[in-house]
Amino acid sequence: MEKRRIGVLTGGGDCAGLNSAIKWVVKTALDDRLQKTRRIEYEVVGIRDGWKGLVLPEGEKGGSALRIGTLTEEMVRTWDRYGGTMLGTSRTNPYDPKNLCSETVLENIERFHLDSLIAIGGEDTLGVAHKLYLEGVKVVGIPKTIDKDLSGTDYTLGFETAVNVITEEIDRLRTTAGSHQRIFVVETMGRHAGWLALEGGESSGAYIILIPEYPFEIHQVNELLMEGRRKGARYEIIVVAEGAKPSGYTEVVKEEGIDGFGHKILGGIGEFLSKWISQLTNIETRSITLSHLQRGGVPCAYDRRMGRYFGVAAVDLTVQEDFGKMVSYRNGRITAVPLREAISKLNLVEVQTQYDTERYNGRRTIIPTIHGLVI
Ligand code: F6P
Repeated sequence: MEKRRIGVLTGGGDCAGLNSAIKWVVKTALDDRLQKTRRIEYEVVGIRDGWKGLVLPEGEKGGSALRIGTLTEEMVRTWDRYGGTMLGTSRTNPYDPKNLCSETVLENIERFHLDSLIAIGGEDTLGVAHKLYLEGVKVVGIPKTIDKDLSGTDYTLGFETAVNVITEEIDRLRTTAGSHQRIFVVETMGRHAGWLALEGGESSGAYIILIPEYPFEIHQVNELLMEGRRKGARYEIIVVAEGAKPSGYTEVVKEEGIDGFGHKILGGIGEFLSKWISQLTNIETRSITLSHLQRGGVPCAYDRRMGRYFGVAAVDLTVQEDFGKMVSYRNGRITAVPLREAISKLNLVEVQTQYDTERYNGRRTIIPTIHGLVI
């Protein structure tokens, strides 16, 4: 029987659901019943720390002793229950002009006899996957990012677990906020996309939600807060995305500089806003940054299930030799789109249909009507 070797890696920020995807890549590739019909015997090897695992060969300075290792069904049996990534991850960009090591990646793909790759990542990791594909590497992508900002898919692994974290933490804040009649500003991740803030805010019933796609006016935030108090509210929860900004300002950055993929390191709008609000309203206002808590912890049921479906589908594409694609979830179905489409532009909140620009919150009209007729 023909033998083939698949390399699997996770790149970019970690999140819940990655281990489930890896487990189901392994189980599907090694499935002995399917092997007979495929007439191919697959081996799956895990590549450590994203693209870095294919840049730094074993034993070299900075390289880990074991960059590549065969994954067995027994090894991955329980992985879907755990957060993070058992393979490790990095933001190493082989095409970064400072590194320029894509040649090394290609050499190592040869050296480790990898017939094809499955890259689990967001726009950066899949951007590298696409470039490698153009250089002749047989690669399939699996979408993951708590930011849900990849195009070509309605879901990216890790998002739902992160929304659950936001909801649970806000539930905790409510009791103390109410006892002290405080305003709480909760900063979420999400980079330039407002999905986490919007859907986390909707799930937790936040009073105000501020997203990057719609720069906010501070006087409107103030007015909404005053209105809430006039109506008898004892406390308010404001969810603000790390990329949100007051109109006329730029995003708040945590530290100067950019990462290997050219991204600014965002963070700090929550604290900034909380000070501003407290001065304007004279109400005690506190801020909390949920930060990496949103990426941690055990995956929720949805991420375990989606990780499974995405893992199985990635092997399907590999078996069918349908490379250069990313598995995706669209209109309720698992399918696949070209990697090019997935990374072509960011998937952002559509303000017109998904955001209430007066209430700074989720929409209050879902089924559009014209003159009372559903359209
Ligand atoms: O892209 C995922 C993400 O969690 C963003 O929401 C956030 O801005 C960034 O990664 C944080 O990255 P790091 O793990 O490098 O702090």
